[in-house]
Amino acid sequence: MNSETAGFQPDASGTAPKQSEYIPHLKLSDGNEIPMLGYGLGTAKFKRSNFDQLDEKIIDDTVMAIKNGYYHLDGAEAYGNEAELGAAIARAGVPRSKLFITAKTSCRSGETIETAFTRSLAKLGVDYVDLYLIHSPFWAQSPADLQRRWAEMEAIKDSGRARSIGVSNYLREHLEATLQTCRHRPVINQIEYHPYLQHEGGLVAFHREQGIALAAYSPLTAVTKAAGGPLDGVYERVAKKYGVTPGEVAIRWCIDQGIVAITTSSNEERLQGWMKRLPLFKLTPREVEEIAELGRERHFRGFWKKEFEEDDRR
Ligand SMILES: NC(=O)c1ccc[n+]([C@@H]2O[C@H](COP(=O)([O-])OP(=O)(O)OC[C@H]3O[C@@H](n4cnc5c(N)ncnc54)[C@H](OP(=O)(O)O)[C@@H]3O)[C@@H](O)[C@H]2O)c1
Repeated sequence: MNSETAGFQPDASGTAPKQSEYIPHLKLSDGNEIPMLGYGLGTAKFKRSNFDQLDEKIIDDTVMAIKNGYYHLDGAEAYGNEAELGAAIARAGVPRSKLFITAKTSCRSGETIETAFTRSLAKLGVDYVDLYLIHSPFWAQSPADLQRRWAEMEAIKDSGRARSIGVSNYLREHLEATLQTCRHRPVINQIEYHPYLQHEGGLVAFHREQGIALAAYSPLTAVTKAAGGPLDGVYERVAKKYGVTPGEVAIRWCIDQGIVAITTSSNEERLQGWMKRLPLFKLTPREVEEIAELGRERHFRGFWKKEFEEDDRR
C-alpha cells in the first residue's frame, strides 16, 4: 500500500486521495474543508409524522454514529428530523468545532430562505452550519428563480452563519443559471451518484471544469437497492482482493474519484467497519474504470424520479 503523500489535499479537480489512516477532507473552492465520508439523516432516518415528539431511535442512532467518528452530518429541513439531529449533537458531547454539519433548504414558496435557515439553526441548536444547500432546483420556474434564491443563500454566507453554501440535485443548466449572477460560487453539488447513475452528458466533467466539488448520495445503490446487476461479480472480486466488503468498494469508488460519499447506517458494526477499513485501501484507476464501464450497462435512479423520464441518464 502507498502512504499518503505529505501535504496532498484532494480538491474539486477530481484528483483521488491515497489511502491513509483517516478519512480525507476535500478542500472546497472557498477554502473550507469537507470530510469525504458523510452520515445522512435522510432516507432511513426520514421522519414523516409526530413532529411534536422527538424520535429517540433517530437520536440514539445518530449519537452512536457520532461516537464512532462520523462527524460529517448531512441533514435537511425536508427530513423532518433536524430536532433529533440537534439532540444527538448535544448528547454526543463532541465539540461543535469538530463537527461538519450540513443543512438544506427546500425553498418553500412564500417563505424566505432566511426564515427557513433561522428555524433550522434553532432546531439544530447551533449558531452556524458548515454547509447550507438548496435541496433541489425542481421548484424553480425559470433561471431568474434560481438566481433570486441563490442571492438569498449568499446573504446567509455573508452573515457568517453558513461557512459554505452549495446546491443539491442541480443539472448543468441550473448551475449555469446560478453562475451567471452569483457573487459566491456554489462550492458543491450533492447528487445521486453511483455506477448505475453516472450522469451521462458530462455533468461530472462540468463540475471539475468549474471547480465545483461533488458529493454522492446513495453510493451503495448497486449493492443494495439495485443489487443483482452487472456489477455484482466485480464488487465481490475487488472486495476479496482488499479484504473488505462490496459496500466498502462502492463507497471507495466515489472517494477514489475525488467525490464525497454520503451514506448512512443504523448498524454499528457496519459503521465501525467503514471507519476502520475505508482509509486502508484504494482502488486502482483500472478498477475505478472497470466499475464505471460495467455500471454504464444499467440505469437506475432512486430519487427525484418524477422529475426525469425513465431512461433520462443526465
Ligand atoms: N440531496 C438529496 O436529494 C438526497 C437524496 C437521498 C439521500 N440523500 C442523503 O444521502 C444519505 C444516504 O442515502 P442512502 O441511504 O440512499 O445511501 P446509501 O449509502 O446508498 O445506503 C445506505 C443504506 O443502505 C443500507 N445498507 C448498507 N449496507 C448494506 C448492505 N450490505 N446490505 C443491505 N443494506 C445495506 C443501510 O442500512 P443499515 O442500517 O442496514 O446499514 C442504509 O439504510 C441520506 O441519509 C441523505 O442524507 C440526499
